Amino acid sequence: MNEKLITPFYIGNVKVNNRLVLAPMAGYTDCAMRTLCARFGAGLTVTEMVSAKGLLYLGDKSAELLYTSPAERVKCAQIFGHEPSDFYKVLTEREYLNSFDIIDINMGCPVPKIVKNGEGSSLIKDEVRAKEIVSACVEGAKNRPVTVKTRMGFNEGEDCAIEFCKKIESTGASAISLHTRTKAQGYAGKADWSVIEKVKSELSVPLIGSGDVNEQNADELIEKCDALMIGRSAVGNPQIFAQILGDKTDYDITSILLEHIDLMNEFYGERYTYVNMRKFIGGYYGGLRGNKEIKQKCFSAQSVQELKKIVQEIKVNL
Ligand SMILES: Cc1cc2nc3c(=O)[nH]c(=O)nc-3n(C[C@H](O)[C@H](O)[C@H](O)COP(=O)(O)O)c2cc1C
Repeated sequence: MNEKLITPFYIGNVKVNNRLVLAPMAGYTDCAMRTLCARFGAGLTVTEMVSAKGLLYLGDKSAELLYTSPAERVKCAQIFGHEPSDFYKVLTEREYLNSFDIIDINMGCPVPKIVKNGEGSSLIKDEVRAKEIVSACVEGAKNRPVTVKTRMGFNEGEDCAIEFCKKIESTGASAISLHTRTKAQGYAGKADWSVIEKVKSELSVPLIGSGDVNEQNADELIEKCDALMIGRSAVGNPQIFAQILGDKTDYDITSILLEHIDLMNEFYGERYTYVNMRKFIGGYYGGLRGNKEIKQKCFSAQSVQELKKIVQEIKVNL
């Protein structure tokens, strides 16, 4: 294991105990997944993107995405939007974000509905507004650090990361997370880590690299930036944090999956759990033969109790 991975670092005034961050992932990084990943060693956990407008006008429904648990070591909430005043108001006139140590702004989401609204990755093309949003958050978050997550460019082949990240830094961001794909790429193709090295040499604040980080490449990639974000590799595989940090334990997948089910049920209740766990089952059973039948069995569950029984029976039959 690369020793740098277990060296603490600072985002503004907030100490993060190691260099592994759970990436924000809409529909996945709810409180249950964040809790589990933190338990396996993630130094920083980030919520999925939550709409600033949603928090202002819909309130509690959007706020469910912001549940946190004491297991999370350093907690970051990711907010998206278009109006600087929405960000400011949600930070100063609502309490939803009070329990978070860090506030992150989404400037990378490629989803068409978000881009059309001038949110997410479309802010890469609108530097003036991007800076206004950062300023509004820095003012609204008071002493808490504000960070930005973005992509290397908007259009195919575009690399404006250095210029954009420097502007964001000069406006007061305390760290930047960079997904080394363009908006046009979505999630296709290989992440381009040469961009990370170039951006890193131009910034004073920590740079968190994102894109295809896994157990095999983490030791090498941490040399290129200050911390690593792990996204898809952690889905149905929360123990990846411990494994990257050098733990050689032979994990019992069934007990981790059962713990995940229990956490989800505790935070969000029965129906949410047996429906949402379907997204994770493939990840947990990914490497096993008979995976398709296993998944179908789990998908047929209509209650948490039934799902747990199926998972326990699978263990017996493996
Ligand atoms: C299903 C899914 C949802 C995502 N949701 C978000 C999000 O809410 N906010 C964000 O900044 N990035 C989001 N991302 C991007 C990830 O944070 C990450 O940058 C990207 O997946 C690359 O990292 P990976 O290869 O480790 O998954 C999402 C990615 C996926 C696959």
